[in-house]
Amino acid sequence: MKTMTKSDITPIFTADMIDKRLNELAEILNEEYKDKELYIICVLKGSVMFTVDLVKKLTMPLKIEFIRLSSYGSGTVSSGKVNAVDISLPDLNEKHVIVLEDIIDTGHTAQFLSSFINHNFKVASYKFISLLDKKCRREVDIDPDIYGFEIDDKFLVGYGLDLDGNYRNLPFVGYIK
Ligand code: IMP
Ligand code: MG
Repeated sequence: MKTMTKSDITPIFTADMIDKRLNELAEILNEEYKDKELYIICVLKGSVMFTVDLVKKLTMPLKIEFIRLSSYGSGTVSSGKVNAVDISLPDLNEKHVIVLEDIIDTGHTAQFLSSFINHNFKVASYKFISLLDKKCRREVDIDPDIYGFEIDDKFLVGYGLDLDGNYRNLPFVGYIK
């Protein structure tokens, strides 16, 4: 089988569009958490690009934690089961916590994380922020507190999102032609 390349992907959100939207998200967060210390939780691997680009735009003191979950197997349909590959976190009691996700699809991951954090810690505040929101695919009654872009039911790659581990390095989000 021919290996697909960057030219087989149709961009939906260009690097420039993502950067502009991240500026808007950062502006909201810089205002809301102006005098607070933040704990940013990056959900590996998909949220790595979103996290590194967003935190560079934030001005409050913050710490970054990385956890690793997996819900997709090797295909393009969510299994609905969330595996906590590595979810070691520091003491988040009394802390302002923001989880950063690449995309919210069925909502199982978001629900798993919000109940994990709220059962283990009495946080000062909690927000779930997703770069992309595939609202039409939701199986669980949960929404992100903030999202970057809403998208319809297409399987997306790039800017952290993968198909079988590929395409995470693309600077834009797109779909396979
Ligand atoms: P959920 O638990 O179904 O909401 O799925 C969340 C996870 O599924 C995301 O963090 C992604 O890793 C993955 N995912 C969902 N939709 C896509 C997609 O279109 N492309 C790549 N990964 C996706
Ligand atoms: Mg993910």
